[in-house]
Amino acid sequence: MVIVFIGPPGAGKGTQCRRLAAHLGVPHLSTGELLRDTRDDSDLGRLVAGYIDAGRLAPDDVVLPILTKRLSNEDCANGCLLDGFPRNVNQAEMLDQYLADRGQRLDLVLHLDVGRQELIKRLLRRAKTEQRVDDTEDVIAKRLDVFHRQTAPVLDYYRDQDHFVVINGMQSPDEVFSEILSHLGGSETS
Ligand code: AP5
Ligand code: MG
Repeated sequence: MVIVFIGPPGAGKGTQCRRLAAHLGVPHLSTGELLRDTRDDSDLGRLVAGYIDAGRLAPDDVVLPILTKRLSNEDCANGCLLDGFPRNVNQAEMLDQYLADRGQRLDLVLHLDVGRQELIKRLLRRAKTEQRVDDTEDVIAKRLDVFHRQTAPVLDYYRDQDHFVVINGMQSPDEVFSEILSHLGGSETS
């Protein structure tokens, strides 16, 4: 079972993936977290940090090897939750190809839909308690802009497929989670 979560910064991808991963017993793969883990003094670490800190997407040729290495881990054999991937149409095509090569397909694509003012409010609130370097007003605006320009086309890529679902992310975390569970259907046991 492979489930993709797509949503703008602050939509609740991480919050919901953590809950669903625990519920389903499959790993939660956040490309944001995988990329943040590469931050160090190496050339790659500095390159990735430059993109994250500016709120821009890291290049596909950096992200894809990191993700596919993680996906090839044994714990992903029964599926995984993808948080923040794919983030552009090229990544969506690469994911389809990667899964097709393994005789797999996406089970569900969940779009967490949240309004801009609520997203900004959540991220500025988080900035007071967590140390994400990209949770500043300027970088949040840049991340939202990148979502609309580069990631929104991924929604169009999936929209006509029968496993695409829009989730109302403006509800409480519990209500969002219930709505997600209501769409799992057979996926939960496959
Ligand atoms: P990433 O780490 O994925 O960040 P993001 O997409 O900007 O999203 P966030 O993690 O900020 O928000 P979220 O949707 O996970 O919400 P959360 O649950 O935390 O990516 C960071 C960077 O890495 C990118 O900018 C890019 O540079 C790079 N990157 C990542 N993937 C890449 C890719 N595929 N290709 C290239 N580059 C890539 O919730 C946010 C806050 O709201 C929390 O405080 C939470 O408690 C609260 N909250 C959650 N749900 C609710 C709710 N229902 N009601 C009220 N508050 C809520
Ligand atoms: Mg997140």
